[in-house]
Amino acid sequence: MLKNQNMESIKKGRVFIKTYGCQMNFYDSGLIEDGLLKKGFNNASSLDDADIVILNTCSVRDHADHKIVSEIGRLKGDKKIVLTGCFAKQIKLKREKGIDIHNAGIPIDYCFAPDEILSIPDILANDFEKNYNGDISNRRHKTTTATKDDYQNFNLVEEYFYNKNVNNSFATIKIIEGCNNFCSYCIVPFVRGKERSIPFSIIYNSAKRYADKGVRELLLLGQNVNSYLSPDDDKKDFSYMLESLAKIDGIKKIKFLTSHPKDFNDKLIELICKNDKISKGIHLPVQSGSDKILSAMNRGYTRRDYLNLVEKLRKGYPDAAFSTDIIVGFPTETEEDFNMTLSLIDEVGFDFLFGFKYSPRPFTKAFEIKDDVPLEKKKERLEAVFEKQKKIFNSILNSLKGKRVNATILAVDKEKNSIEFEKGILFKGCGLNDRMIYIVNNNKDIYKNLRIGDERQVEITYVKNNRLYGEVLK
Ligand code: SAH
Ligand code: SF4
Ligand code: F3S
Repeated sequence: MLKNQNMESIKKGRVFIKTYGCQMNFYDSGLIEDGLLKKGFNNASSLDDADIVILNTCSVRDHADHKIVSEIGRLKGDKKIVLTGCFAKQIKLKREKGIDIHNAGIPIDYCFAPDEILSIPDILANDFEKNYNGDISNRRHKTTTATKDDYQNFNLVEEYFYNKNVNNSFATIKIIEGCNNFCSYCIVPFVRGKERSIPFSIIYNSAKRYADKGVRELLLLGQNVNSYLSPDDDKKDFSYMLESLAKIDGIKKIKFLTSHPKDFNDKLIELICKNDKISKGIHLPVQSGSDKILSAMNRGYTRRDYLNLVEKLRKGYPDAAFSTDIIVGFPTETEEDFNMTLSLIDEVGFDFLFGFKYSPRPFTKAFEIKDDVPLEKKKERLEAVFEKQKKIFNSILNSLKGKRVNATILAVDKEKNSIEFEKGILFKGCGLNDRMIYIVNNNKDIYKNLRIGDERQVEITYVKNNRLYGEVLK
């Protein structure tokens, strides 16, 4: 079992981080990896090759929990298993509350909540230095707690931003952690804690650094970016942040995720509509089109409020593109409620949506209500949502045929089996509210001169399989 050979490289172990869930988790995994590499750990090339496996988990739906439990069951050999992320916090909370859980016995060595991730490198490094004896199976079931809220440790966050290598023109910055909204179905406020904004100066300086390293596009992340407020200055809100970042030399596009409709104020609408650098592809989760269900979900807006918001944004910027999240089968959802959701999808005309079957989550308010929509019904409704969305998106795309737009060339398409690829190089361009355009010029000379990052005028020529195709004009 002891891997005597190559002792140096396994002294602190080879680590493999597997990430589940949303972009917040992927971002966090970057922070963890950065810290571990600094402490002398190495990256393992695969799960099988790892001495330490870190599972950065999600817990948003029941299915997410099951995926992780079965992943742990599949792990072979004597590996240290470090659980972190939202499912890890769920386990901790249940243990604290003395709740009996079906997965309490899963063999993990460490369990860190999302707000403890910055401690992971230190704790693992200490333990490995003190205890490492080649046997990594002797501490099963032990969990370690870091009690402080690491996200207040802004120095480490700042250092991460500053040192992070960026190897393309795109970078993600988390601006706010946690959520105070307590939508009645959602476990996130319980597992990720209360809202904590990262100081404006850290984000601003990091964005500047990124821009100097060649970053052109920023994605600002948070469960509810609209409620961003710098902890050291209450005038520095989300609008202030967007406006300031847009002024940085080199930054060409700023996207953000996720917005909450109840916190989307007029100042922000005006700014988005007038500032060319701010993305007009807006993700605005609606969840349901029925006022009864929206109220039971504790979303804080009505159907009319939501539609008014979309209208205002479209008035300021007619080509704005919207995407959303929908939950079907929330307790007490009738056929009539559901039809309100379908009609809202029609009214708004989303570019894309994420649809989910309601899944009862521990600690939440809705957990107390009977999950009374049968699974078959949920499946049927979700299918109907996707069916409608497909048709709508197709008609949105078809309405764009013949349009000429400015597109930035982003990448050479790697889909080697596409017909267009066989004809030559297929470029991916991005224009018209960040909709992807596949560029299939017949004129090979234009191809030859095309470079990633170029901005070109593209004419949308046809639509196939829900994709826009276009030709570079010159
Ligand atoms: N902060 C974001 C995203 C939260 S999680 C927001 O407010 O929109 C992403 C999506 O998962 C949610 O928008 C919701 O549609 C879905 N979701 C959350 N809890 C769920 C549950 N218990 N059952 C089904 N879907 C859920
Ligand atoms: Fe969950 Fe609602 Fe917070 Fe989004 S806003 S993370 S859905 S509680
Ligand atoms: Fe999942 Fe946690 Fe994100 S529950 S969706 S990883 S905030």
